[in-house]
Amino acid sequence: MNWFISALTSGVGRKVIMALTGLFLILFLIVHLLGNLQLLKDDGGQAFNVYSHFMAHNGLIQLISKLNFFFILLHAFVSYTLYVRNKKARPVGYKVNGAAANSSWSSRSMTLLGTLIFIFLLVHLQGFWYAFKFGSGIPTVTIDGVEMHDAYKWVAEAYANPLISGFYVFSMIVLAFHLWHGFSSAFQSLGLNHVKYTGFIKALGYAYAIIVPGLFAIIPIVLYLKR
Ligand code: HEM
Repeated sequence: MNWFISALTSGVGRKVIMALTGLFLILFLIVHLLGNLQLLKDDGGQAFNVYSHFMAHNGLIQLISKLNFFFILLHAFVSYTLYVRNKKARPVGYKVNGAAANSSWSSRSMTLLGTLIFIFLLVHLQGFWYAFKFGSGIPTVTIDGVEMHDAYKWVAEAYANPLISGFYVFSMIVLAFHLWHGFSSAFQSLGLNHVKYTGFIKALGYAYAIIVPGLFAIIPIVLYLKR
């Protein structure tokens, strides 16, 4: 545990924690997206319901889920300690720092973008995860003799509300900007920025930042149009 405490107290250690937790969350998003894309199948929600039921009842998935929540909180917490540390080091900021010329808007706005994503997550988890786990009134359906939550119906009804689907689309744009800088920045913080691969990692990061949030955003749009 000592290595963890000293990593948390050093600037480089905190950057490494940000990078490792960020990369874990990048992988999580791919798995989460593949599962959620089943909402678009024209099968009355059967595939998505079976998938949701499996995720909620598999021991290994539940363990990874706990790790996932821990990494989200750690990622957010460490980013704030870095933000506060930077503010203390340079309370007024440079008068003429040419920031706009030297860095992208997304790289300078990571804390703001991360905060908006955190707010999105609170709303998202309350509406879906918490509702499925602890809420009452979730409709049920029987598939192959197994009674389960009709998760599809719950999600589709939520996205029939333009305010909710609009909020999701807006949040996916925010997520795209966060990943636009965050993806390659994680590799850089881990020292994986060899001249030979940096261009490839940047391009992969930009592609990820457009494709993954883009596909996430299509789900509420399609379900809203289908309502
Ligand atoms: C259209 C977009 C999305 C849909 C339809 C969706 C749907 C869901 C559903 C139904 C659950 C509950 C799963 C269950 O407990 O059975 C869930 C959980 C979750 N979602 Fe999403 N989600 C979307 C986007 C996102 C995004 C963009 C993020 C992160 C930025 C995210 C992060 C999470 C997390 C962290 C959980 C908890 C997972 C766990 O148990 O570890 N989701 N989502």
